Amino acid sequence: MHVVAIDGPAGSGKSSVSKSAAARLYFGYLDTGAAYRALTWAALKANLDAEKLTESWLQEYFDYSISLDPNDYWVKVAGLDLTEKIRETYIAESVSAYARQPLVRKFMLETTKSLVNQCNLAGIIVEGRDITTVVLPDAQTRILLTASPEVRLERRSKELTSGADALNQVTQRDKSDSQIVDFMHPAPGVTLIDSTHMDFDETVAKVIATITSDRR
Ligand code: DC
Repeated sequence: MHVVAIDGPAGSGKSSVSKSAAARLYFGYLDTGAAYRALTWAALKANLDAEKLTESWLQEYFDYSISLDPNDYWVKVAGLDLTEKIRETYIAESVSAYARQPLVRKFMLETTKSLVNQCNLAGIIVEGRDITTVVLPDAQTRILLTASPEVRLERRSKELTSGADALNQVTQRDKSDSQIVDFMHPAPGVTLIDSTHMDFDETVAKVIATITSDRR
């Protein structure tokens, strides 16, 4: 199976670009940020602060599932569809605190690897922050997708209801997340795609060309 790892900051377009490239290649698609968001939702609901999380709670009570189909994307916890819910501002504001916990990162690494193993298609695109470096450093294709802060802010604000949300989601969250893992600079062997001056279709085409050139 051709494993593709794509990292990048908020608003780089990596989710929509990865989803579209996966659909065109008949590959699976895995959004790893969704698991951090779903975990944040579940922990907040259980009144569990980030520092209070335990391995047994993660293993026993966080019953997470996600679709690997780029044409039918959904996220569930204990059978409850949270696809829309996890995009809300209160989740974005709290997610970094949970993502910072080493226990959580270890759990997510294992979850991601096991989801990749479940995919029985010709390939899978896995996107996040630490996929090219920590989770799947041996992936056949590794890409860092970036864009200038101004462009990312503009793209994010189109998805959100208020400008304040956009500003908080892009600048604050990137600042906080980049203390956990460096997703602003490509690690050795990782292809940098800067989409600042590319439109959506051009970016998808560039990602597909990079994947195709790595095909053995
Ligand atoms: O991509 P996203 O905005 O849905 O990610 C939500 C949060 O999860 C983000 O603030 C950082 C964290 N995250 C992470 O730490 N590592 C990943 N591989 C993916 C996401």
